[in-house]
Amino acid sequence: MPGGRRITVAKAQFATPCCGDGRILALSSTGLGEAASSKEPLRMSTPIAPVLVTGATGNVGRPAVAALRALGVPFFAGGTDASRLRRSLGEDVVARHLDLADPRTYRDAVRGARGLFLLRPPPIANVEETLNPLIDEAIAAGVEHVTFVSVDGADRQRWVPHHAVEAHLRRRGISATILRPGFFAQNFGDAYANDIRERDEILVPAGRGRVAFVDVRDVGELAANTFVDAALRHQAWTLTGPAAVTFDEVAATLATALGRSIRYRPASVLGYVLHLRRCGLPWTQVLVQTVLHVGLRFGNAAHVDPALGRLLGRPPRTVQQYVADHVALWTPVRERA
Ligand SMILES: NC(=O)c1ccc[n+]([C@@H]2O[C@H](COP(=O)([O-])OP(=O)(O)OC[C@H]3O[C@@H](n4cnc5c(N)ncnc54)[C@H](OP(=O)(O)O)[C@@H]3O)[C@@H](O)[C@H]2O)c1
Repeated sequence: MPGGRRITVAKAQFATPCCGDGRILALSSTGLGEAASSKEPLRMSTPIAPVLVTGATGNVGRPAVAALRALGVPFFAGGTDASRLRRSLGEDVVARHLDLADPRTYRDAVRGARGLFLLRPPPIANVEETLNPLIDEAIAAGVEHVTFVSVDGADRQRWVPHHAVEAHLRRRGISATILRPGFFAQNFGDAYANDIRERDEILVPAGRGRVAFVDVRDVGELAANTFVDAALRHQAWTLTGPAAVTFDEVAATLATALGRSIRYRPASVLGYVLHLRRCGLPWTQVLVQTVLHVGLRFGNAAHVDPALGRLLGRPPRTVQQYVADHVALWTPVRERA
């Protein structure tokens, strides 16, 4: 196990949604900073809660919520549709109305929160008028720590919207954890799912590039840990899966798991743009998705970073594991009961 950081959190006890109550969590760690040199359990106080979880019904938000629940950390789920939040996360969830496109919803959404799990929904392009003002409102309301789901390379690439959010967090000087995941394994069950399900193919302009797909269940777990483990704050990490694979290899994995032939069809740039437009994506998302996938041809997402395994204290999930756990996602609609 690389680095071997195992977090053994006794389920945090919170009498009421609160923060700074001085309770101690015992964590064993051989992880970061000062803790890296210590083999003794890391003793910490002041878990940060309650947490406002944005994007709670999404790919990363759902496992983050599950992990917060497992840790016993109180949270609110922010979203545009309270009934969708409850359907997705359970009737007992505390739903807060938060529409990032409507700044009038920010103040009530952050009220009483001490932590913020911040995610940029893909349709939100202008972060200067959305995510950054939400951060300001959160700080004004007493939020002490923000964990932001950014993207691999956002520190170097100014054109990526997450870059401006990272810069804003630095400017504001608030305690922050920046998670920069690479390509999600969950794209196979989301962005690429319809092509696999209905046409038995993966169609992306990635050439023969390798990708170290990361499983959002691991990202969500790490995100939740940042609210109970002080050693995970004031940090930024690139998060990848444990191995870089080609789309041909994932197609073979899918074929074996599904018992039918699945092929990878490398798309041309123009062919992919037209394909995404036919799928109904707006131009901004078409451009971002095309640029990111063409970058795969040049190995932009092939780097395997050991940080995630070290921080979780176990190997990150492989794309093979993701496929095995989700085979029902690719059953063609015509074959469903
Ligand atoms: N896909 C990848 O490979 C990858 C890799 C690295 C980083 N990322 C980054 O990860 C983020 C996407 O995460 P994800 O896949 O979890 O997203 P997702 O599954 O598309 O979920 C988006 C979430 O945002 C919510 N949302 C949408 N519009 C909103 C609004 N106006 N106000 C408030 N909430 C809103 C959605 O809620 P409702 O739908 O219920 O309204 C949903 O919960 C992006 O920033 C992306 O750049 C993605």
